[in-house]
Amino acid sequence: MKNYLFFFLFALSPLLGLAQIIVDSDQGGKIPSYTLPDPLIFNNGERVKTTKDWNNRRKEIYRALETEVYGVTPKWKGKVTSTLLSTKSGIFGGIGQQKQIRLTFSKGGKNSSLTILLFLPLQSKNAPLFLSYNFDGNHTTTVDQDVIIPDCYMNNKPEIGVTNHQANKESRGQQASRWPIKEILSRGYGVATAYYGEIDPDFDDGFKNGIHQLFDQKRDSASWGSVATWAWGLSRIMDYLEKDQDVNPHKVIVMGHSRLGKASLWAGASDKRFAMVVSNCSGCSGAALSKRIFGETVEKINNSYPHWFCANYKKYNSNEQALTTDQHELLALIAPRPVYVASASEDLHADPKGEFLSCVYASSVYELLGSKKFPANSMPQLSTPILGDISYHIRLGKHDVTLYDWNCYMDYADLYFKRKK
Ligand code: GCU
Repeated sequence: MKNYLFFFLFALSPLLGLAQIIVDSDQGGKIPSYTLPDPLIFNNGERVKTTKDWNNRRKEIYRALETEVYGVTPKWKGKVTSTLLSTKSGIFGGIGQQKQIRLTFSKGGKNSSLTILLFLPLQSKNAPLFLSYNFDGNHTTTVDQDVIIPDCYMNNKPEIGVTNHQANKESRGQQASRWPIKEILSRGYGVATAYYGEIDPDFDDGFKNGIHQLFDQKRDSASWGSVATWAWGLSRIMDYLEKDQDVNPHKVIVMGHSRLGKASLWAGASDKRFAMVVSNCSGCSGAALSKRIFGETVEKINNSYPHWFCANYKKYNSNEQALTTDQHELLALIAPRPVYVASASEDLHADPKGEFLSCVYASSVYELLGSKKFPANSMPQLSTPILGDISYHIRLGKHDVTLYDWNCYMDYADLYFKRKK
């Protein structure tokens, strides 16, 4: 009932002069004008004026994104234990150490596990650390023979040698270009990674596998999808990092590429322990505005990946105007913590301009909380980062994570974690 009331108010709000940002048509009229909810207007039409008001408004926005997009994360009632599986010091010519830690989730006699691959620079106690899932297994991030190959279900990817839903040694190091670990360590940053499929295998199985087996699932139209499940896993890794004596848990940057960028944004919005959030080419239902209806749309993503979001999200297939929220409000939920959004020029599927505009329209919330205004309203030149508490760049090239991207994220993190040499 309440939801209907919100929707009714939202639909009426242009008439009442409330709650909306009107965005003019764009790209030679290819994108008709559309309206976005104003993150600083409550559902009842009142304006957010103070930090206290924002904290209440934040709950409304979180609720909208939770019930209509990502789904509600259920309470975890199980146990998690961590086991140190290996340590190795003096890696990459002595600049860091490497550890592998297994998290075992248990409930009702059932178990599920996740292996964290952790790299720490030599002076590790105070180092900021990037936490980022990998797409194909920890062993694909480095050629190191000691990195454990996951034994869970994996989507086939013949190009890296996965043809029977099982990882194997053929794919060792195959994604290393996305993981410049030596460069990251030598700049004084750590990296924690884990295979996202160990939390929830990435296919539509009705939420029975991965961690889902350990939850009491009475599912409804607002129940969590895989993106929220992956975000939950990032928070469980954070629980571990808080306990690791070699890690400074106040300097953890949650970062993700593409679908894992969607998960890192939702993790950053849901868990304030993440000190900084990085979205690399996260696109539709990540940083890109849905109401622009450009590139991948809500309908396309729900059809291709029916398990990623809650069932309610399907109500917005070809019906984006009915959404009472949009992705700029996801960025706003991260305020006042720094957030960096990055796009690639050839990645039109992810709608770079829609990612940029989310930064523009999240700015009012950051400003209310004391940040400077996001200093642009048109797209920057290629490889010219816009830096502030909300940051953005678009680099030349395709949908990927490159050394250029990592260098930008480290330069940015330097500003906050004061590691500038
Ligand atoms: C597909 C999907 C995107 C997603 C991407 C990825 O292209 O449509 O939404 O971000 O996969 O995760 O690589």
